[in-house]
Amino acid sequence: MTKTYYLTTPIYYVNGKPHIGHAYTSILCDTFSRFHRMIGEKVFYITGTDEHGIKVQKAALEQGKDPKAFVDEIVPQFKELWRILGIQYDYFIRTTDSDHKKVVQKVLADLEKKGDIYKAKYHGWYCTPCESFWTELQLKDGKCPDCSRGVDRLEEENYFFKLSKYQNDLIQYIQKHPDFIRPDYRKNEVLGFLKEPLEDLCITRPKARLTWGIEYPGSKDHVVYVWFDALLNYLSGAGYLLDDKKFRSLWPADLHLVGKDILRQHAIFWPIMLMAMGVEMPKLVFAHGWWKIGEAKMSKSAGNVVDPAGIVQKYGSDTLRYFLLNEVTLGLDGTYSEDLLAERYSSDLADKLGNLWHRFASMLEKYCEGKIPQVDPQKVGPDLYHEEFYAGLWHRVSGRMLDYDPRAALADIWSSVIVFSNQLIEKQQPWKLAKDPSKRDILLQTLWVLGEHLAHTAVLLLPFLPESSAKILKRLKLKTEWMIQKPEDFSKPFVVSGTVIEKGEPLFPRLDEKAS
Ligand code: MSP
Repeated sequence: MTKTYYLTTPIYYVNGKPHIGHAYTSILCDTFSRFHRMIGEKVFYITGTDEHGIKVQKAALEQGKDPKAFVDEIVPQFKELWRILGIQYDYFIRTTDSDHKKVVQKVLADLEKKGDIYKAKYHGWYCTPCESFWTELQLKDGKCPDCSRGVDRLEEENYFFKLSKYQNDLIQYIQKHPDFIRPDYRKNEVLGFLKEPLEDLCITRPKARLTWGIEYPGSKDHVVYVWFDALLNYLSGAGYLLDDKKFRSLWPADLHLVGKDILRQHAIFWPIMLMAMGVEMPKLVFAHGWWKIGEAKMSKSAGNVVDPAGIVQKYGSDTLRYFLLNEVTLGLDGTYSEDLLAERYSSDLADKLGNLWHRFASMLEKYCEGKIPQVDPQKVGPDLYHEEFYAGLWHRVSGRMLDYDPRAALADIWSSVIVFSNQLIEKQQPWKLAKDPSKRDILLQTLWVLGEHLAHTAVLLLPFLPESSAKILKRLKLKTEWMIQKPEDFSKPFVVSGTVIEKGEPLFPRLDEKAS
């Protein structure tokens, strides 16, 4: 059985509407998943919603709603956003799904039986917004070390998971698998954190304080800590303890993509949970950076969120996808502003890609009745066209995608084909060639090469800009689903001589025209 490429987004809290930070993780995963499909792999892309815990209970209460009724209203907003952003996930998991709850309870019961969970009295400090317990020593100036907000003193009886028992095993695992946590600087951060002894993890909350959660098996007084419940979605969504065949075809996950704020949970808690369960490690935990507005992280609590739906309506979903994928190298923080997005729209999408299509289609109309000319690729001069050009391009772009660097892939596509083709038009000056009948062959070859470049660009861009690429391919009367399993699949000519293309409306209309 061939292994499916299995990738996950974090499951999103449903205490509010999704914003650009959430859209980022999902767009990245969608791009990777489309790319892996294109290279012929089976893909399973899971996303979903993290529905339990204090945050959601509080948000529901504030609106005077029952938590389940509240989350049932928010979940469709996430699904709708993923639809308009072209996010093609394979499975949407909700932590309120009964299958998921069953798996969580079974795992807990097994771990308790194994001796990795114990019950104890706990004194400590609790940060409600972060839902984290801290010891006296961990506090920073008496405040939460993560968010610097005030903490409350708590004493209660809870269940604890023995993180400490597995600390050394985890350190060794990370050291033996240098690509388990990426980027490298985040791995070092995790190893730095692991230099201090780990405290066992409090994995329940007394019902007196929180009722909105999965019941701890065997206790009427406790619900499960939301992170323990949430992390298990990666297993339950893959069929763990539910559908063995499915699980064996999916696990281990190839990629857990997460924001850097939740790396500790994914690079420490999660691997230790898996070790305790005796389940194989995921292949990679990749932490991306934050989108900021000025200096502040975009977040609901900071009140500076940007609604992706508004941006999509104004600029199109590919524009938001392009901006987020291209603006920063995966791992680093980025600054979001609509002005910057509009600038990239005009300079990269409208002036470079949109304009290239427009110039090509107009010239084809003018000089060839809109038909792809009959050209023998063997006879086209090497200064205009050679197949190895595409083989090299594919090799570089696919290599960058396999190395999780979509920004470098996009930069290469833009400079090697899109900007290059615009320069080719300047160099060849087809309008001059058209005036000289003895240059007819060169004119046709130039237009044919431009058509090829555009077709290859559109295929390469399918994972990144699915809407615009499909538009270009349809206008060239080519299929919109491609399988590139070996370099020859990409280096061969794509356009079909004699095809009458469709010029169509501008791919990326000028912003002043859009507004009018
Ligand atoms: N529910 C947990 C995840 C559980 S996964 C087992 C959670 N949810 S979240 O809704 O708060 O965040 C989901 C993802 O969105 C995280 O990866 C987080 O980093 C990301 N982002 C939220 N705000 C962000 C930015 N401003 N910028 C980039 N990503 C950010 O954490």
